[in-house]
Amino acid sequence: MTEIENRAKASAAVPQPDTVRMMEMQALLDRYPPDPRFALAVMQDMQRQFNYVPREGLLALSSRIGRSEAQLYSMATFYKALSIKPKGRHIIKLCDGTACHIRGSAHLVAAVERLLGIKPEETTTDGMFSLELVNCLGSCALAPVMVVDGRYYGKVSADQLRGILDECRAGEEERAAL
Ligand code: FES
Repeated sequence: MTEIENRAKASAAVPQPDTVRMMEMQALLDRYPPDPRFALAVMQDMQRQFNYVPREGLLALSSRIGRSEAQLYSMATFYKALSIKPKGRHIIKLCDGTACHIRGSAHLVAAVERLLGIKPEETTTDGMFSLELVNCLGSCALAPVMVVDGRYYGKVSADQLRGILDECRAGEEERAAL
């Protein structure tokens, strides 16, 4: 067999990224009955699995449950927990409520921009971090407050912020090494 034939055979045997993704999407859809009542649950699963609700997911769901893509798109853009744009694997929620604003949340926004090159509502090009500005997180006494991957941090300084980002990176490297 020639080298070209060998390569062709190898590439036919290995699923390509889009194929893998569609297979994952199908497996996700198969967890639920083809019923519009489960549309939100399916989209929440997509959000968890892919860090956003992909267009191909909306299309597949639309034909499975008999709802238009526009209806599903409205749902996906209505709920704050869902995003139709890819999000980072680590979500930084920075509080910009009154107490946090007074105590320097703007400095933290600037620090994130300096350290990661992203502004609020943006995601790093490597897909690792997204920055979101939020209103009061209910811990004003600890202002300025931020939440990273669901964990609260209070009285955050720019130095601490750098340490928190480093922890996220180290966690990814540890997982990759397993
Ligand atoms: S204003 Fe930030 S936690 Fe309340």
